[in-house]
Parts: sequence; structure tokens; C-alpha cells
Amino acid sequence: MNLFDVYPLYNITPVKALDCTITDEKGVEYLDLYGGHGVISIGHTQPDYVAKLKNQLDNIGFYSNAIQNPLQVELAEKLGKLSGLEEYTLFLCSSGAEANENALKLASFHNNKTRVIAFDNSFHGRTSAAVAVTDNKKIVAPINAQQIVTFLPLNNIELVEKELKKGDISSVIIEGIQGVGGLDQGTTEFFQALAKMCEAYDVVLILDEVQSGYGRSGKFFAHQHHNIKADIICLAKGMGNGFPIGGILISPKFTASYGLLGTTFGGNHLACAAGIAVLDIIESQKLMDNVNDVYAYFLEAIKQVPEVIKVKGRGLMLGVEFDFDVSNLRKKMIMDKHIFTGNANNKNLLRILPPLTIKKEAIDTFIIALKESLKEIQS
Ligand SMILES: Cc1ncc(COP(=O)(O)O)c(C=O)c1O
Repeated sequence: MNLFDVYPLYNITPVKALDCTITDEKGVEYLDLYGGHGVISIGHTQPDYVAKLKNQLDNIGFYSNAIQNPLQVELAEKLGKLSGLEEYTLFLCSSGAEANENALKLASFHNNKTRVIAFDNSFHGRTSAAVAVTDNKKIVAPINAQQIVTFLPLNNIELVEKELKKGDISSVIIEGIQGVGGLDQGTTEFFQALAKMCEAYDVVLILDEVQSGYGRSGKFFAHQHHNIKADIICLAKGMGNGFPIGGILISPKFTASYGLLGTTFGGNHLACAAGIAVLDIIESQKLMDNVNDVYAYFLEAIKQVPEVIKVKGRGLMLGVEFDFDVSNLRKKMIMDKHIFTGNANNKNLLRILPPLTIKKEAIDTFIIALKESLKEIQS
């Protein structure tokens, strides 16, 4: 049987990884400044994380959500503490799209409305409602298109209010910082007005922190830079450091009832062990402090590269913008300089999403390689 061929692949076969280094089958080492789409938070194969997962597997790996699972309770308590959102409750699932799907559904259950506001260039995943609120017609199948979604530009609060006034909006979904779309983000003024307005019109504010959460922005959640509270916060990527786990944090205004949401795999023992290890390590290694230090260092260091016209994003969720399509540059960085970076819908952007453990020396390595690569593609 062949694989269903939906991914264009680089001809690289990683067989080992440690912290920010990936090694391929020929022994070539790569600097990972992309974390496999922003998934690796505490570094590849972090020893305490590996030990915790191995130990959990020796005891019990899985049982369904029909029994007591103290690991879920421990994960929720730790997540509440580290994020400063102890009053929220946690529903666990297994991916970012599933988190958003459940958030949109819970909002609709809550206020019995259907229409959703999403933003231009958004990406929220590929399941039914999640893909419908994603601003990319190419990945929306006819079966998904039946959802009623209105896309608006970021940072235009008047247009949001015009729609909210119509009375049929269930929820507004917005990324803490846009990822796939190209690292744009709402201003503090916009986020604060949006939160107030959602409250006034009984509309659920969903913060998609699947990529921007878990310390990547320098605070636990990117929207916390704007001093707002969301009704539902969606999580995945960095939450399990590669183990598939997602979740939604639900504000106290929602009432749970048996059967309202559910999943087979969500919150299983192994996933929780991974989630707990990640939180313990983010806290004990003060990784959010590291994010802020390395971010400040990056902003200074990138000034050595005059071809860069802008650095977008925040913390270790960055987009380095040029005034040309960076496809060749990115390819050169991977194949010749052995540095992984990412791309975005904005073709002029190199995306930087390293493990949160990244050191300043790795930024120096990146800058040197970037300068060399720019020279080489120009000559
Ligand atoms: C902001 C955001 N939301 C949701 C998703 C979907 O997550 P998953 O691929 O785990 O379903 C992604 C994935 O890139 C994302 O960046």
C-alpha cells in the first residue's frame, strides 16, 4: 500500500533528535528552528519527559473516559496554576482542530446561535467547523461550506460590531497570533474592544492559542499580553511536545452536562503524562523567561541583516519578512545550512518556531547562515 500523497516532502529522514538538534539517517545534524510546526516546546526527547512517558507506558497507557483518571485532574490543576486561569475548566482532546471544533460547538450549544466571525488569513484546522472558519477556500470541501461564517479584517472593530448587532453571531474565533497566515495579530486596543463587545452581545470569544499558547509568546497565552479574558481557549501543539494532545479551557460561564462533549482518545493516561511533564519542565526550567531573553536577543541580532524588512510575531513565534519570495532561501537554509525554518501564506516570510529551550548561540548560527544564504542566492 502506498501513502495518500498529500504532503510535499523534503528528502531528509530524521532518525534521532535531542533538544534543538535533529539528526538524519546519514548522521547529518540540523538545527531545528521550526519545532515541527511549533509543536516541540521543551526540546526534543527531553530526558524527564521521556522517562515520564516510559514509566507511564509500563503502568497503564490508555483507558476510556469512563473511569477515574487522576492524571487528568493533575494536568488541569497544573495548567490552571501555570496559566493563571485556575477558575477555568478543562476538556481534553487530541489535536488543534478538535479543540477548535469543540469550542465552536460548545459556543453554539451555549447561546443556540450559529453564525461565526473569523478573520482574514486565519487558520484553525481541517475538521468540519474548524476548516469552515479557516480563510483558505482550497481546503474547504462542499460538505464543510454549509457553516455560516463571516470573515473580517483584523483590527477593524467597527465591522465586528456591525455584525454582532445583527444578533445571530454565536462566537468570534481569533488566533492569539496568526500562525499559518503570516504572524499578524490583533492590537491590544482591538482585543480589548473585542472582549468587551462579545460580552455585551452575549457572543462567545474563542481564543485559538493552539500555536501561540504554551509560553511561545513569552506569556503562557498570547492574549494575556492584552490583559483580556477569553470565554474558551483552544490548546494543542506545545501541550504534549509531540505527543498528540489538545484541549479547551472553558470559563465558568459554561455549564457542563454528561455527554455534551466527548472523545475516545482525549485525556488518556499517556497523553496526560506527556502534558504534565511539559508543564513541569516549562515551570522548572523557566522557559518563558528564556523565550523573552532569546526574543530580545533575536530582535537585536536580526538588525545585522539589512535584507530583512520586518520581524512579525512575538516571543519564539516569529516571521522574518523580506521583499521577495523566500522559497529558495528556505530550501537553501535547510539543504545547505542544515537549519529548519517554516513558510507561511505570506510567501515573503520565513517562520521561526524553535523549541522554547533554544539558546542565543543558535540565533547566532541562524544569522550567519542567513547572511551567507542571502549572498549565495543573490550571486
Ligand atoms: C492556530 C492553529 N489552530 C489550529 C490548528 C490545527 O491544529 P491540528 O493540526 O493539531 O489539528 C493549527 C495548526 O497548525 C493552528 O496553527
